[in-house]
Amino acid sequence: MKIFVDSANMVEIEKWLNMGIIDGVTTNPSVMLKDGVFDIEAGAKEIARLVSPLPLSVEVTSNDLDEMLAQAHTFASWESNIVVKIPQVNQDGVPCYGVMNQLEKEGIRVNATVALSMSQAILAAKAGATYISIFTGRVSDEGGDANLVISDTAAWLDYWDYPSEVLVGSIRSVGDILGAAKAGAHIVTIPPQFLTKMADHKYTRETVRQFITDAKNAMAMIEKEKVNRIV
Ligand code: E4P
Repeated sequence: MKIFVDSANMVEIEKWLNMGIIDGVTTNPSVMLKDGVFDIEAGAKEIARLVSPLPLSVEVTSNDLDEMLAQAHTFASWESNIVVKIPQVNQDGVPCYGVMNQLEKEGIRVNATVALSMSQAILAAKAGATYISIFTGRVSDEGGDANLVISDTAAWLDYWDYPSEVLVGSIRSVGDILGAAKAGAHIVTIPPQFLTKMADHKYTRETVRQFITDAKNAMAMIEKEKVNRIV
């Protein structure tokens, strides 16, 4: 399973990148706003150059399908590792699969985003999307069984041999991450604060503390024996 970081915070991205933990980065307009990136072009270029050749997903900001296509061309021209996020439908419910299909035919990788059902994921796979982003937290918000959507979709893609990868986003807890991992997600995109939580455990800290204390005790014993030998 691959791990992406869901962030536009350069410090956090670089930190996890340098640990060899991450395989890509995802953003959206809300993530950029939260992380203080107001200029999408400047921010996207900076992140894309930092993580290259790993993929960076950048989301279109228009509700109009022609404008989405034009924006996608612009985003893709910035850096070769930029993947364009296109929603399943626009805010009026108009399907955006034609935009996805056109971009993939042109060799521009698409992240079919805001998928909340297996039916949307099937259409995104048919349209040729490289990634299909299932929003686990938002599926759960509505009372849906997010892990079932993930596992059914992953199994369906595998059965019919579609190359699209299930990318699980909208992470609200470490439980969401483990649930997605067990359900067969190809990728989970994780906000940095949950990567920190994944690493930490109070009993690991305590155990490490005990080992360091005993290493110091052993050194003290060596020193004591040296003194005894001289005396
Ligand atoms: C994923 O690519 C999205 O950026 C993100 O995970 C959306 O999650 P949200 O439900 O917190 O907005």
